[in-house]
Amino acid sequence: MTLDLTLPPTTATAPAPRVAPVAAAAPGTLRTAELADLVRSIAARPDRWRPLVRFQESGRWWTRLDAPAGVDVWLLTWLPAQGTELHDHGRSSAAFTVAAGTLTELRPGDDGAPVPQGFAAGRTQTVEPGDLHDVVNAGTEPAVSIHAYSPPLTRMTYWGAGPDGVLVPTRTVDTDEPETDA
Ligand SMILES: [Fe+2]
Repeated sequence: MTLDLTLPPTTATAPAPRVAPVAAAAPGTLRTAELADLVRSIAARPDRWRPLVRFQESGRWWTRLDAPAGVDVWLLTWLPAQGTELHDHGRSSAAFTVAAGTLTELRPGDDGAPVPQGFAAGRTQTVEPGDLHDVVNAGTEPAVSIHAYSPPLTRMTYWGAGPDGVLVPTRTVDTDEPETDA
């Protein structure tokens, strides 16, 4: 079942500070800072994504958006309590921006415990290859986000606490879909 919900108008936001590139991108791919610019530019054009927005009670919903070569861009929607699990994006760099609502990203702290960070509409986050994160709509309103991966996502590894509490990989899935639960 899908729901068509009316979203609040997006608000113009000041551009977030650029993130310094951490490494040269492989030919034909974009670095996280460039992916951040890309998702921000798409979010700033609601005509490109707002008509596509759908929500799904059974889980997060997504659809692919037009993207330059070497990049996959996805529109994701999140009803309250919908989220991912702790994961990495394999060799892909990634960035996401919140286009409506608020999302919470959790990353392991020094002791492995998740540290939450809220991302309101207009905020952008970068995810370097090897970074672990989890994303959830911890709020009470639907959320919409735009995600870019370069090279396109091919593999995700999920992580969980082992017997001694240290994070260990629990499963790896081959996927070209974003933030999948599979
Ligand atoms: Fe992710």
